[in-house]
Amino acid sequence: MKTRITEMFGIEHPIIQGGMHYVGFAELAAAVSNAGGLGTITGLTQGTPEKLANEIAKCREMTDKPICVNLTFLPTFEAPPYPEYIRAIIEGGVKIVETAGRSPEAYMPAMKEAGIKVIHKCTSVRHSLKAEKIGCDAVSVDGFECGGHPGEDDIPNMILLPRAAEELKIPFVASGGMADARSLVAALAMGADGMNMGTRFIATKEAPVHENVKQAIVAASELDTRLVMRGLRNTERVLTNPAVERILEIEREKGAEIAIDDIRELVAGVYPKVMMEGDMDIGAWSCGMVAGLIHDVPSCKELVDRIMAEADQLIRARLSGMIAA
Ligand SMILES: Cc1cc2nc3c(=O)[nH]c(=O)nc-3n(C[C@H](O)[C@H](O)[C@H](O)COP(=O)(O)O)c2cc1C
Repeated sequence: MKTRITEMFGIEHPIIQGGMHYVGFAELAAAVSNAGGLGTITGLTQGTPEKLANEIAKCREMTDKPICVNLTFLPTFEAPPYPEYIRAIIEGGVKIVETAGRSPEAYMPAMKEAGIKVIHKCTSVRHSLKAEKIGCDAVSVDGFECGGHPGEDDIPNMILLPRAAEELKIPFVASGGMADARSLVAALAMGADGMNMGTRFIATKEAPVHENVKQAIVAASELDTRLVMRGLRNTERVLTNPAVERILEIEREKGAEIAIDDIRELVAGVYPKVMMEGDMDIGAWSCGMVAGLIHDVPSCKELVDRIMAEADQLIRARLSGMIAA
């Protein structure tokens, strides 16, 4: 399939794996890129710019296809050394960066000078337009369904994607709630040039996370996610568990007085324990509503091939057939 996104990134299929904390390591990024999509290493998960450089080098040995690095700009007092992370990306020869969180404006000149294509993840049309204005090459439009941080507008992709198509000139991919060929074809119909998947790619053979995480996603339904940290304006969609229900209880008790310290131990530093050790109930971890559409743990190649074959069928048989009739 050829779209503006496959052309821009030099990939075979318009399917991107979004950056994911403690999931986006070389093994997964290489598997997605080898399957013809675009795999992403999550920059900050590596811990230091040196470790990111090592992870990029490791990934390079596993694939000669394009790869991406995610840089998440966090609202922290002590900012990670972003310029050094960017240097590691440039020196590692990576030509695609997915930015997320706050605006990447301050870092655009360095990345553009190095010939890097920047795809910024946005949860609103106004942020997408800002990304276009500051020179981003593409955006990943992340609807309310998404795992991770859906923003505070709560606009689902059925509305957000066509609205983005109405306003944007640069290409965008649909993100949030994407799982299969139906998602891809619907996203293309709504004006996107591809799709970005997070949760779906965790439940794959190559995702370097504990088997418990994959099985939790397969077992979950679309009713099993919750929104936490609303009151802190840092909303996160997570899979429910006893720790998440405790967070919601504390949030109800504290109301507008809620502070991060009230829930810190249930949200901070839990990813290594969940993803590496499979300690599923230790705290809150991101997961999309799309868990309801995930029923198996295929290899990345099986997943991508299946999506592309079924998309072909959907377009040629189901949709064309309706017009012919
Ligand atoms: C476990 C997990 C961790 C994530 N970590 C990050 C992250 O560190 N940075 C980021 O930009 N997005 C992160 N995301 C968001 C994904 O990149 C992607 O935008 C989102 O998962 C799309 O929604 P979906 O899960 O419905 O496919 C994460 C998502 C999940 C499920």
